[in-house]
Amino acid sequence: MSHFHQHSQSSQQTPETKGNVIHWALSYDVLSSGILRSSEASIRTLAQVKPGDRILDVGCGSGRLTIAAQKWVGPTGEAQGIDPAPEAIMVARRNAARAGLAAKFEVGLVETLPFSDATFDVVLSRLVLHHLPGDLKQRGLVEMRRVLKPGGLCLVVDFEPPKSPILRHLVENFLSPMAHIDVHEYIPLLVEAGFAEMETGPTGSKYLSYVRGRSLGK
Ligand SMILES: C[S@@+](CC[C@H](N)C(=O)[O-])C[C@H]1O[C@@H](n2cnc3c(N)ncnc32)[C@H](O)[C@@H]1O
Repeated sequence: MSHFHQHSQSSQQTPETKGNVIHWALSYDVLSSGILRSSEASIRTLAQVKPGDRILDVGCGSGRLTIAAQKWVGPTGEAQGIDPAPEAIMVARRNAARAGLAAKFEVGLVETLPFSDATFDVVLSRLVLHHLPGDLKQRGLVEMRRVLKPGGLCLVVDFEPPKSPILRHLVENFLSPMAHIDVHEYIPLLVEAGFAEMETGPTGSKYLSYVRGRSLGK
């Protein structure tokens, strides 16, 4: 029996969260999908995705990564995206229908994932943790570990500041508050949440790096 539940209504409310929810899903989709595509092939490799896997994409936004994941796992696998923004879920479902792929989408929060323990082989989260205040990051990571099967992988992808000190200074002070985000700061949080075999490194996108941990079970 499937662990997933598909809701048909589109007028759902946004559940209450201290996370920074993106309601402008259509514009986000147009602005981000081209830039983010370059990270997808490396995410597939880093997450060690196999045909038939069950994959959860937490904070899926307009669903591009979830839809790519559905392609990777094939018809015997399942890719599920969750996001608090009903607008994002609507756009994601539309994107999946246009791609002819059966990726599933549901309104939900990382801090209370609507799935049973040990459901997924892989949990992905791209550009989401910096949308959560400190305590919510930790709660979210504990939830991500709960829904992973023993041996499952959690792949967190986010920004890494420029390596050059001059460029870093310029970007941090004059260009973008995003430049303060550093994916490496999540490593102790993953360890605290019970992940093991930690790894970190670049992705196929020069702006994005990853942190990966394995759930060894309870
Ligand atoms: C920058 S977008 C990234 C979207 C998508 N992962 C991607 O790579 O294109 C961050 C997403 O995190 C979502 N978000 C905010 N608070 C959240 C929460 N408590 N639980 C899950 N997702 C959340 C936002 O609604 C938004 O869609």
